[in-house]
Amino acid sequence: MTHLAIRGLTKRFAGQTEAAVADLNLEIDSGSLVALLGPSGCGKTTTMKMIAGLLEPTAGDILFDEQSILRIAPERRGAVMVFQNYLLFPYMTIAQNVGYGLKIRKIDRAEIDQRVREILEMVRLPGIEDRRPKELSGGQQQRVALARALVVEPKLLLLDEPLSNLDAHLRFELRDLIRDIQQKMGITTVFVTHDQEEAVVLADKVALILDGRLRQYAEADMFYKRPADEATARFFGGQNFISGTASNGVFEGPLGRLALPEDAPEGAGKLTFRPENVRTGEAATGENTLRAKLVNKIFLGTQTRLRLAVGDETITAIANPNDVENYLVDQEVPLALPPSALWVLTH
Ligand SMILES: Nc1ncnc2c1ncn2[C@@H]1O[C@H](COP(=O)(O)OP(=O)(O)O)[C@@H](O)[C@H]1O
Ligand SMILES: [Mg+2]
Repeated sequence: MTHLAIRGLTKRFAGQTEAAVADLNLEIDSGSLVALLGPSGCGKTTTMKMIAGLLEPTAGDILFDEQSILRIAPERRGAVMVFQNYLLFPYMTIAQNVGYGLKIRKIDRAEIDQRVREILEMVRLPGIEDRRPKELSGGQQQRVALARALVVEPKLLLLDEPLSNLDAHLRFELRDLIRDIQQKMGITTVFVTHDQEEAVVLADKVALILDGRLRQYAEADMFYKRPADEATARFFGGQNFISGTASNGVFEGPLGRLALPEDAPEGAGKLTFRPENVRTGEAATGENTLRAKLVNKIFLGTQTRLRLAVGDETITAIANPNDVENYLVDQEVPLALPPSALWVLTH
């Protein structure tokens, strides 16, 4: 098990004005799975390649168990990377593909065969040693690529959008398999994705990168309850942002005076709350109750999405359909914003 530290990591490509990765700092606990989350082009692959040794950083350091690995050759770092497009050797059998890393480490034949057999069982592809990559589906090929990475018992597993080329049902299946194996083997893992749900489901901690900068590094639920800034809240589906000022546990703005949770930041900023935490219609009880006008209402099957106007502000809410079935567009609807659902963004 390996602790990974990334300190001040920066990469500036020749001819670029903006750094692809700018002063990134991350501590990744031994045996944990961290998701590196962000939109396309935010520097995720560049970061992974620097960890694996495929790219040289412009500045900063990368440490495995507090030892800098920047001067260690890629093949001796013990970090293996799995890419989005499986990159199997087409003319080799599955056994040769998976056993490749062991062969170049001069492990003897009988041990290679046994370890290949065991790892193929672990990725739930037993008995396919003699097949060729083209005879397998995309999901199977990606599991072979995973087996090829795991068979060398790496210190660090780097997965770069490994599920992006797969259909939804395969994606969920492989996602669960990766989590299962990662926990069983206890391998420190960095999982790159642009998919917020994938990050939340898989990871012990999520590192959100926007515009080449780390915005928040925390357990997944904190991105919903305590987002670092508006861009972070929006990336996670936040839709309600109301300007005003927080002081003495109260937010004062166009919605009036609202009680805040005890740990809310104070000062000028924006009040935010998630659509699913707004209580509307029959459910609008407790503190911070308001009256709004129903602007529109869309039945989504198990939920109802509402747009509500309070003065000049528009609020988006997700309700239980039963709580709002008796309210019509243009009518008044009660709503409540429980203090525990509120947060203030001051930068
Ligand atoms: N070899 C390279 N030369 C120049 N620019 C690059 C190179 N690789 C990546 N970039 C640029 O660096 C930025 C980050 O790229 P990348 O790390 O691939 O993003 P992500 O994996 O998050 O989609 C992008 O603007 C990309 O165009
Ligand atoms: Mg990428």
